[in-house]
Amino acid sequence: MSMPSRVKIVEVSPRDGLQNEKQIVPTDVKVELVDRLTQAGFPNVEATSFVSPKWVPQMADAAEVMARIQRRPGVVYSVLTPNMKGFDAARAAGADEVVIFGAASEAFSQKNINCSIAESLERFAPVAEAAKAAGIRLRGSISTALGCPYQGDVPIEDVVRVARTFMDMGCDEIDVADTIGVGTPQHVRNVMRAVTAHVDPARVSGHFHDTYGQALANILAALETDIAIFHTSVAGLGGCPYAKGATGNVATEDVLYMLRGLNIETGVDFDAVVDIGQWMAAHLDRKGSSRAGNAVAAKRAA
Ligand code: HMG
Ligand code: MG
Repeated sequence: MSMPSRVKIVEVSPRDGLQNEKQIVPTDVKVELVDRLTQAGFPNVEATSFVSPKWVPQMADAAEVMARIQRRPGVVYSVLTPNMKGFDAARAAGADEVVIFGAASEAFSQKNINCSIAESLERFAPVAEAAKAAGIRLRGSISTALGCPYQGDVPIEDVVRVARTFMDMGCDEIDVADTIGVGTPQHVRNVMRAVTAHVDPARVSGHFHDTYGQALANILAALETDIAIFHTSVAGLGGCPYAKGATGNVATEDVLYMLRGLNIETGVDFDAVVDIGQWMAAHLDRKGSSRAGNAVAAKRAA
């Protein structure tokens, strides 16, 4: 089975990881998190999101986070932008990449962004156009691509339809997102094969939440279909406020450990990431959910 020799890890903990935290995380901690991540070698960090603070209060300090982080040359700093208001703020903040996020299931679209899939795609069109005109990278994220908390099964053709629309809008990258972590490897293979029949696999990422413990296996399955971009979160932080019961993204430490065993390059310093995961979990006053991170930390303490 062929697999990529190098993968790009997009570290999403500052956004997906923190957006779901009940306690408001101080801006200082967010800034330190982003800076520590870029120092550890991540080529792309999802730094925050420019969404309505009424909907997601945790991300209300987006502009401040962006203003205070130390820009590391070559790193792509991504932010979520659901509409033009978000885009204008993201542009002013100097984001390198903006993310439009739609769903493959109607019910989730309503709960998450308060409109139908068709309406959301209409709202994203001007954002996409403005990003292209400004020379800002554009990414399109497809939520509930492997299952929906409200609708259950999501037909693969619905995922492909959103992926194709995002490509037509000029997206540089497309995320196949398992919002609630219900996917299993064969399903992932089928979805990735269907999407990559229309989109260059080099532009497709896997964004897997680990709710059902399938995320590492799903990444392996996606690697086997030539996917070479994955979203991960230190200490397994994360979850969507509009996907009840869904836990965090796959833990970065676990993914790095697996990739190292597969001889796949990432350019990211595993030991530094273990430190960041432990620091962040301590800050949130709980144990992180990375098995590899906790194992290494326990070994160090022995
Ligand atoms: P709405 O209430 O339908 O829209 O929200 P609105 O245009 O009527 O705006 C309502 C208020 O929000 C107004 O303020 C706007 O100005 C303000 P008011 O006039 O009442 O004082 N507003 C904004 N403020 C700051 N920045 C903005 C912005 N837009 C409006 N960009 C909207 C529609 C999409 C804005 C709202 O539903 C929203 O922000 N939702 C947040 C959704 C979200 O962040 N979800 C989590 C991220 S997605 C995710 O986690 C999935 C992902 O990880 C992949 C996966 O795992 O599936 C990416
Ligand atoms: Mg997510």
